[in-house]
Amino acid sequence: MLKGKKIILGVTGSIAAYKAAILVRALVKEGAQVKVVMSALAKEFITPLTLATLSKNPILVDFFDPENGQWNSHVDLGLWADAYVIAPATANTIAKMANGIADNLLLTTYLSARCQVFVAPAMDLDMYGHRATQKNIETLKSFGNIIVEPGTGELASGLDGKGRMAEPEDIVESLRLFFQNKTPDSLLKNIKVLITAGPTYEAIDPVRFIGNHSSGKMGYALAEEAARRGALTTLVSGPSALELKSNSVQKIDVVSANDMFKSVEKHFEQSEVIILCAAVSDFTPEQAAKEKIKDKTKLVLELKPTTDIAFEMGKRKKENQLLIGFALETSNEISNAREKLKRKNFDFIVLNSLNDKGAGFKSETNKISIIGKDNNICNFELKTKELVASDILDKIEEVLKLQ
Ligand code: C5P
Repeated sequence: MLKGKKIILGVTGSIAAYKAAILVRALVKEGAQVKVVMSALAKEFITPLTLATLSKNPILVDFFDPENGQWNSHVDLGLWADAYVIAPATANTIAKMANGIADNLLLTTYLSARCQVFVAPAMDLDMYGHRATQKNIETLKSFGNIIVEPGTGELASGLDGKGRMAEPEDIVESLRLFFQNKTPDSLLKNIKVLITAGPTYEAIDPVRFIGNHSSGKMGYALAEEAARRGALTTLVSGPSALELKSNSVQKIDVVSANDMFKSVEKHFEQSEVIILCAAVSDFTPEQAAKEKIKDKTKLVLELKPTTDIAFEMGKRKKENQLLIGFALETSNEISNAREKLKRKNFDFIVLNSLNDKGAGFKSETNKISIIGKDNNICNFELKTKELVASDILDKIEEVLKLQ
């Protein structure tokens, strides 16, 4: 939702300025371009170097660069941005904003900005509760600014109450919601999407199992992004330590390949888009021991194949359904993926290779290629799994548009 969005972050002099670093990182991770404007006092709380490094852009503080006299145009900056977030916003900056005072670059940019402004107040509880501050906040609301409400809890002063700056993830969520409401409806809106994720565990005895290194990150990122686009999303997840941020995804926890098969089978017919991202075990013990295996001299496990969920669903797929599979390969990547695409009747397959650095199990990033039914290959850069999820769903929307 924030991919490619241009965001100015205004940082003012509050102890909560340290959270600006986390906020910049989260925005960049979401694919946004970030430029940071700081008030002079903010520099006492967090160094410009930290925010410049994280935002990958120079920090702006003064009206002009004292070194070379170059003018920092607040007008250009205000026109550049899709959103202006002032976080943390002190009582002083809020008061100035409410009254049109323009004595630093952060404030002149505010007065010039044509984009949506978000304000995340941060101050002590009495300053926050003071009628002057409350009146100023009401004034900002009446100007159309969005106030990201502060939280209640322990404050830097040692007092307890309302005034803690909202957590960076809450600010990111406000931005997401804003852009979501502004962007035209996704083709996935109200479409039933079924996603499998994570590993499966095949019991050897009540204690041990056969599993694999899948963390579930890619499938969870797909489910979050599908839900954000308005899809009615069901996630069938093998054992994973991850938690979903979105509460609009229906999550079904399963353990074994057989549990996953039964759950997918149950939801398959009513689903319009099915993404099989799970690393399903190909074999399971012929018989799981009822008691913990004690004999430590020798153990021979008899394994039988599990049901290939993708292959079975490929056979049942109807005209109005899209089936997307994954391939994680270590050799002959493209020919193996093409063979799977055909055999399992996928509409396209997402290939990731264990030979690519930063791709595969447990990593935060992934590097994929998408192979279509027409055998065309589209290669993508190394990206966070959130951005990869967005690329995959863009591809699904592209296919839906052609139908
Ligand atoms: O054959 P391979 O396991 O590499 O195929 C990978 C694709 O098939 C993935 O989309 C995976 O989720 C799916 N699959 C499945 N059921 C299995 C094995 C794989 O759905 N038993």
